[in-house]
Amino acid sequence: MRDITLTVVDHEGGEREVTAAAGDVLMHVLRDNISVEIGICGGEISCGSCLVGLDPRWAVPGAHGEEAELLAVLGAGEQARLGCQIVLDDSAHRLQVTLLHED
Ligand code: FES
Repeated sequence: MRDITLTVVDHEGGEREVTAAAGDVLMHVLRDNISVEIGICGGEISCGSCLVGLDPRWAVPGAHGEEAELLAVLGAGEQARLGCQIVLDDSAHRLQVTLLHED
């Protein structure tokens, strides 16, 4: 199984590559590589600190249920998702993730 390389764009537009594996939860990858401020609720869909914009080429099923409700409360755009609800697979390789949550 090959590594999955993602390009993470921070709030200032800076880019950084992180490496993950299929089956990893995106929030965990971002928390472990970028900031401990990501994933404050531990994936309970209550904090929004894992809010990210996904590369438009990233074909993931749309948000539903509690995730969709929190995204609506946050006023998140079409490409926005909660990183705690995204499980990586090989299709994510070489795609971009933009950090959207403001402290
Ligand atoms: S970690 Fe809190 S909503 Fe995703």
